[in-house]
Amino acid sequence: MKLWKGRFKKEADPKTNDFNSSIAFDSRMFRQDIEGSIAHATMLGRQGIIDEGESMRICVELGKIRQDIETGALAIDPDAEDIHTFVEQELTARLGDAGKRLHTGRSRNDQVALDVRLTLREECGGLKGQLIGLVQVLAQKAEQHAAAVVPGYTHMQRAQPVTFGHHLLAYAEMLLRDLSRFEDALKRMDQCPLGSGALAGTTYPLDRALTAKLLGFTSPTQNSLDGVSDRDFCAEIAFAASMTMVHLSRLCEELVLWCSWEFKFIELDDAFCTGSSIMPQKKNPDLAELIRGKSGRVFGDLMGLLTMMKGLPLAYNKDMQEDKEAVFDAVDTLKLCLTPLTPMLETMRVLEENMRAAAAKGFINATDCADWLVAVKGLPFRDAYKITGELVALCIDRGLTLEELPLEDYQAVCQSFDQGVYEAISLEKTVGDRKVLGGPAPENVRAQAQRVLKMLKEFR
Ligand code: ARG
Repeated sequence: MKLWKGRFKKEADPKTNDFNSSIAFDSRMFRQDIEGSIAHATMLGRQGIIDEGESMRICVELGKIRQDIETGALAIDPDAEDIHTFVEQELTARLGDAGKRLHTGRSRNDQVALDVRLTLREECGGLKGQLIGLVQVLAQKAEQHAAAVVPGYTHMQRAQPVTFGHHLLAYAEMLLRDLSRFEDALKRMDQCPLGSGALAGTTYPLDRALTAKLLGFTSPTQNSLDGVSDRDFCAEIAFAASMTMVHLSRLCEELVLWCSWEFKFIELDDAFCTGSSIMPQKKNPDLAELIRGKSGRVFGDLMGLLTMMKGLPLAYNKDMQEDKEAVFDAVDTLKLCLTPLTPMLETMRVLEENMRAAAAKGFINATDCADWLVAVKGLPFRDAYKITGELVALCIDRGLTLEELPLEDYQAVCQSFDQGVYEAISLEKTVGDRKVLGGPAPENVRAQAQRVLKMLKEFR
């Protein structure tokens, strides 16, 4: 039965009912709906808007309904219009007139704006915990492989030497920003819309500060139209989720590359790989690929939310019912992706020798050779750059590395070279000397890993 049937002569067409109903995706908010109703009823009683005894009975019965849903004693009616309707009707069936008084000074519009906030607040709490866990693993792995030399790439070409720990910590930095983006969104969402009514507030003497406080918000919203009609908090959380998915997707892309035979920088644990139905030798990084793939749907959720909102006149419009599926999917998908990713990273085997072998090829110490001519021999950088380029060309012709090229050949290109160049271009030195703040030197990586682990404490 509909809440609004007074004005109507007919029941809704069953197909219309299915289309209009949100119960399939808002019943997950039953706890939050009941929590909001308990706060509202408590406030109504304290303000003398309803009888205090009735207020108490409503609160007690709402608690029982919550428990009955949790234990399965009460099944949520799939034909109900939404979770708000279902809970109110169940309360009325149990309490009669007292139940009918709950909705005094309230609308489903401020109710749903509240429920979604409460749900997201809780979901983001769990999400933050998962992100913290991932960053922790990245920092620990970085510490373990602080001195592992690996080629750094630009344009997917070997460029300059870095350390594997440094590479992992780059992702830790991105994810720390993602964490702060969630925190930031939660801070802006921290206002209670109850009391906004349908759109124009109410004539009842509600104590909005009290309901806000009972529900753990810092303050009530300040404009009734805004309170019921913006979903920027959903879009912000969907964006934070999207940005995080971009970072996870890039990391997963690298995992896929690194575990290929072409790279073989890492070996993923069997527990996080799958085989092929036809090729017996295959060990595929499906989970990493799937995370990369799932980023697309999260961006879709964000785009759907923005597009749904952009043309809506104030205040509530039914279009906004679409907020929940989108933002819940964004959050759920991100959580789903984090679940296998963290243990997958934790258990991966890092093949430092292969990284070192790759770093030895590709002339990633060429810049250091030029820098040596500048620092030790006082050449202008442009000249040193040209000389080193000629040396690289010579090495390619002869199938040698810069370390293997004899000193006479160096000197044939430039008289200034002496034995000292070999030390300057050794990989350990080139990486070890990159001690500038933010650089890949092993000692930096160890210090940065500690800093990251310390920063995580601020997010708890
Ligand atoms: N199920 C609705 C939603 O999710 C609840 C609000 C309904 N309000 C209304 N005026 N029809 O948005």
